[in-house]
Amino acid sequence: MFSFAKICRLWSFYKFLFVFAVIFCTVQYFLLNAGPTTSRRQHEDKIISKSPIVIHRFCGLFKDCYHVSDVARRNAKSDRLEVSRDFISDTLPNGALTRVHLQIPEDLSNDQNRDTSKWEVNKRLISMPLIKYMLASGFMLEVLKEETKDPNHNRILSFGLGGGALQNFIAELHQFTINITTVEIDPTIAEVGQRFFGFRPTDTNRVIIADGIEYSKELKDKGESFDFIILDASSSDHTKEVVCPIEQFREPEIISTMAELVKPNGGLVVNIYAVKKVYENEEKILFAFSREFASCFLMRYSAEQRLLICSHRFNWDLKEQGKRFHQNLQRHEMLIGLKITETLYKYNSFQ
Ligand SMILES: *[C@@H]1O[C@H](CO)[C@@H](O)[C@H](O)[C@H]1NC(C)=O
Repeated sequence: MFSFAKICRLWSFYKFLFVFAVIFCTVQYFLLNAGPTTSRRQHEDKIISKSPIVIHRFCGLFKDCYHVSDVARRNAKSDRLEVSRDFISDTLPNGALTRVHLQIPEDLSNDQNRDTSKWEVNKRLISMPLIKYMLASGFMLEVLKEETKDPNHNRILSFGLGGGALQNFIAELHQFTINITTVEIDPTIAEVGQRFFGFRPTDTNRVIIADGIEYSKELKDKGESFDFIILDASSSDHTKEVVCPIEQFREPEIISTMAELVKPNGGLVVNIYAVKKVYENEEKILFAFSREFASCFLMRYSAEQRLLICSHRFNWDLKEQGKRFHQNLQRHEMLIGLKITETLYKYNSFQ
């Protein structure tokens, strides 16, 4: 016989079971669905809140001090986490000498994976347009060619390694070969390039630790020659009127040596960074190099800066070869990047 009290007890037991089941299912639902995405976002936010994280500090050969810093942010457009690694001079805290992007691990749920200092560099993503502008000028001048696998072609001599962003980008170009030799005077910088910026030397991507001026003379004496010279040797002293190239590379003798190292149909590009009297200093450098090359001209790539581009070919400048240079840039647009060519067309006349 069921007593009334027994029915009541059973009823409240089932009621309890029902409420429990509802709560259990709700919690389970949120854990399975909303759970992982909110927690990933929380993990990402944790990384962003700690940013910037300084992962290395050191002082270089010339007592100039630097730090390497991981900077996390949310991309305003895609809302995704983005982490870059910046190589910063202590005398110029607002601008990175080199910036690379890091590959974000799939799983951010454990502490170890959230340690950005262990993350790999994404070499395909070039965050420094300057590097592409300098490479673009090589294709524009026809001193670099995409249709070669011969390591004796596309030979580049480059001064100044920094974080090695140019060297990394070149290492990722598998469809053709570029053989680049980089001369870096400061061994501490070369070490940082390898430890933190993913630079890996190979037999077509070498770094020579030497004074660029002395080494150039040695190369000349050995009769070496290159298709393209990239001069991006920057001073760490930003109180100077011209920061890049450093004054030692603006002397007539080294300019003449570099001109001898460039093959008859080869070229050279110089990153000019003047802090004061910009226009005047750019023209001065143009004048100095024009004495040693058949053609030299300045090409604008931002409101503030111009590249100096020289070649041993006569009439090989924007004024004379505008149409041809335009075609060359278009042919290599996929490699160079659409934005880069658009900017060049905007600032310069390719008639
Ligand atoms: C790349 O160029 C350097 C310097 O010009 C040369 O010594 C080296 O042999 C070249 N590498 C290859 C694989 O040919």
